[in-house]
Amino acid sequence: MKKKDIFHAPFVEAMKEMTSNMYRLGWDERNGGNISYLLDSEEVAEYLDLSQVKRIIPISFQAPELAGRIFIVTGTGKYFKNVESDPETNLGIIRISADGANAELLWGYRDGGRFTSELPAHLMSHIARLSVDPENRVVMHCHPTNLLAMTYVHSLDTNEFTHTLWQMSTECVVVFPDGVEVLPWMLCGTNEIGEATAEKMKSARSVVWAMHGLYGAGKTPDEAFGLVETVEKAATIYMLTAHLPRVNTITDEQLQVLADAFKVTPKAGILK
Ligand code: 13P
Ligand code: ZN
Repeated sequence: MKKKDIFHAPFVEAMKEMTSNMYRLGWDERNGGNISYLLDSEEVAEYLDLSQVKRIIPISFQAPELAGRIFIVTGTGKYFKNVESDPETNLGIIRISADGANAELLWGYRDGGRFTSELPAHLMSHIARLSVDPENRVVMHCHPTNLLAMTYVHSLDTNEFTHTLWQMSTECVVVFPDGVEVLPWMLCGTNEIGEATAEKMKSARSVVWAMHGLYGAGKTPDEAFGLVETVEKAATIYMLTAHLPRVNTITDEQLQVLADAFKVTPKAGILK
């Protein structure tokens, strides 16, 4: 059967839209940020011959839990602003090999490139999120300006950071009742930061990398994007107000009223 045009596949369109929006929101300067999106193999087979592996690219760790799973992933060193005009160079579609040690390139990275240097954090986070939410599909990383700024001036204690963000707009506790987890500064692009991120992803869908950026996960591109957007909005309110006298606030009691009304359970140990 004739294959459909990959350039119009919904998952390629979704990656183009996400990267363009993220770039224009100022979250992804230069090559900053990366996205991985777990795809449905049957859907990919409508566009690509899955027996045609273009290249085998080793991954620096073992991911047997993801053997056979197919992801579309941004390329390392690639600029989000360029994905829309040239997806085949800036994105790749990879399948994790049967032994979990390699990526089989099915499409993309046309200039000989490879997947993001943050693949360990992405794949390990997918494994962690899938273990608690089998419907999770998207992991995204970016450098949102105000969130980054906040990590320079706010305590990096996970509960204190979450509490401040929840107070910064009424939506927050509803959108991320699981809170944000905060990692101290660590060297990026390593298995170690991947393991630390994935450990946090077992209990929360957003993980802050202090002085670097944010990871967000979700069932759909919209859900992951909306999470990052809401965290960044809260951080923006914080940075606009932190140096001013706080006259009004959302109290813990009001946060609990919100959680009850929207039927979410706020992470334990934060509200007094
Ligand atoms: P890549 O270009 O390898 O995706 O890295 C960008 C980045 O944000 C590193 O944390
Ligand atoms: Zn980064």
